[in-house]
Amino acid sequence: MRVAYCLQSRVDWLVRSNLCFLAFATPLLPPATPLVSDNDSTTPATTIDLTVQLGRLRLANPVLVASGTFGYAREMQAMVDLSRLGGIVPKTITKLPRQGNAPWRTIETPSGMLNSIGLDNDGIDAFIKHHMPYLGSLQTAMVVSVAGRTHDEFVEMTTQLADVDGVDAIELNISCPNVSGGVDFGTDPSMCERLVAACRAAGSHPILAKLTPNVTSISQMAIAAEAGGADAISLINTCQGMAIDWRRRRPLLGNVIGGLSGPAIKPIALRAVYQAAQAVKTPIVGIGGIANLDDVMEFLVAGASAVQLGTVNFYNPTASTTILDALPEAIAEAGATSVDEVVGTLASNP
Ligand SMILES: Cc1cc2nc3c(=O)[nH]c(=O)nc-3n(C[C@H](O)[C@H](O)[C@H](O)COP(=O)(O)O)c2cc1C
Repeated sequence: MRVAYCLQSRVDWLVRSNLCFLAFATPLLPPATPLVSDNDSTTPATTIDLTVQLGRLRLANPVLVASGTFGYAREMQAMVDLSRLGGIVPKTITKLPRQGNAPWRTIETPSGMLNSIGLDNDGIDAFIKHHMPYLGSLQTAMVVSVAGRTHDEFVEMTTQLADVDGVDAIELNISCPNVSGGVDFGTDPSMCERLVAACRAAGSHPILAKLTPNVTSISQMAIAAEAGGADAISLINTCQGMAIDWRRRRPLLGNVIGGLSGPAIKPIALRAVYQAAQAVKTPIVGIGGIANLDDVMEFLVAGASAVQLGTVNFYNPTASTTILDALPEAIAEAGATSVDEVVGTLASNP
């Protein structure tokens, strides 16, 4: 087992144990109001169509797990029935192995966490050899996340994955706040468009572009990803943040600045999904602080066609399947017969 992989597993364990507190951090929400339905007679939950079409990628249901929060899935198989998931996005891989950033790499925050892992991974060759045989055997969509330091590296990796068995789609991580290089593709619209177009042309896999919220206009970036031919737009990655020990007058994260995730960023993610959905027709995959069924329904109504669960996997690993158990009933309660019918149905007034 490679050192980098050991480190990542230990970080995952650390994160999991550190985040138990979040299980008790129930947000103070107003009492749940039933979704308004035009139908008096709701469709039986058993007949609800959960399938989702993200461009050329078809999913059995809209609940995926997010990159960096589910390891390479094997770590979670004892806790989660992986075949029930709409899809899995394993930890982002890079062309060459990366050791990641110096510790501390994770910090608890109110209703969330900061991380500056720095894309610790063993590189694409080791991923294809050691992880893909297992990942490809799973009965769920495998969305492989890649990050390049340059345009050509992204394209090279996409090309390399083109003939690998079990890969169903590629998510371009153009939004990691914890590495230098790469993030420019998520902040510069013309670089983003050119990159998405080149990766799309490099193979036949559906392409998801994962965007950063750390931009002035998320709509502009979504438009660029759409112009490049993205099959779907994943948003959001983490929000830049930091933590400080004022007594020592030092930053807590080894990398000084990290990415904030968890329930704390849900309103930012909802806003980003809503704004992007107004700007593009490309399907959107909502990510950010999603932890329960209501969160999922909010993202669908805001305009997401599917969602990815991230930080919640650390403190409630079965959240995805618990949500899936209850999703058909919520869709029926909304007066719909399919996920599709709920997507983007937010009224313009409160
Ligand atoms: C510890 C940790 C590691 C992450 N690593 C990656 C990564 O490798 N690639 C990526 O695209 N996103 C990564 N993310 C971002 C998540 O996939 C997700 O976009 C973000 O955390 C927001 O969702 P959440 O609030 O549900 O966690 C990471 C997040 C965390 C907390």
